[in-house]
Amino acid sequence: MLAALLSTLVLALSAQAATLKLQSPKLVVTDSMGTQLRSDSFSLSKQVAEAVELGAKDILKMTFQVLDQETGNGVQPHQTFLRFYDEKTNEEGIQPVRVTPGGKAKFELNLSKPPLSLPPTPNGDPLKVSLIIGTSQYDPISVELFDLVLPKSQPAPENPLESTFHVLPEIHHTFRADNKMPPQPISFAFIGIVLAPWAILLSLWSQVVPKPSRLFSPSILPFVASLGAFEGLLFWYWVDLKLGQVLLYGFMLSLPTFFAGKTALASIGSQRLGRK
Ligand SMILES: *[C@@H]1O[C@H](CO)[C@@H](O)[C@H](O)[C@H]1NC(C)=O
Repeated sequence: MLAALLSTLVLALSAQAATLKLQSPKLVVTDSMGTQLRSDSFSLSKQVAEAVELGAKDILKMTFQVLDQETGNGVQPHQTFLRFYDEKTNEEGIQPVRVTPGGKAKFELNLSKPPLSLPPTPNGDPLKVSLIIGTSQYDPISVELFDLVLPKSQPAPENPLESTFHVLPEIHHTFRADNKMPPQPISFAFIGIVLAPWAILLSLWSQVVPKPSRLFSPSILPFVASLGAFEGLLFWYWVDLKLGQVLLYGFMLSLPTFFAGKTALASIGSQRLGRK
């Protein structure tokens, strides 16, 4: 059902799209004095064989009338353009063509005053000239008409952003040279000088520090050991453990520590009171 509807619609549309034709299309080249250098007719079905060549001040004139193929009435298309395209550089320029309500079109290219949209031709390569006509209810037209050879022009100006689209030179890092180290014996001599006070301090300390007499007694050693275990746990935390694990292990460790501490304090207390 839907397909049938669509196909009728397509049929209706294609039936509606009528065809345009050009009446007496003609191109004329004159020089600046108005002398006619060349006159050709062109058509939508066949490209002009010989390229159209313009001198620096020559003028190209194109005239044609747009007609309905069926009725022969003049048609004013919504859009009529000439496209100048350089295949090698991929540059193109589009020029609108004025068409009267009766379909009469007139285009003039005066090379004394070339339009800005004309692509540059620094190498003298021919431009492909196409006619583009678009209007509702008619089949669109886009036809290559002829090759146009223009005098050599300045090359296209370089885009100011052009330079930013290239690879930048590679970055080479230069590192500062290593510091110069003194010979090893000298280094060791100074290490000895720096460490000497510590050696003296430790040797003197060993003379004056009182010996912990009861540190290893069976009533105190468990407490000292459990404090050591706490230190070990904190070191383990620093190396590997997560906070939750530390809290759990610390809690488990705190119970024996509590009782060992109580025993140790009681033993010291009774010793102080001379009960022994
Ligand atoms: C072509 O342009 C030049 C410079 O503007 C002008 O002097 C000359 O009259 C123009 N020729 C035609 C036929 O319009």
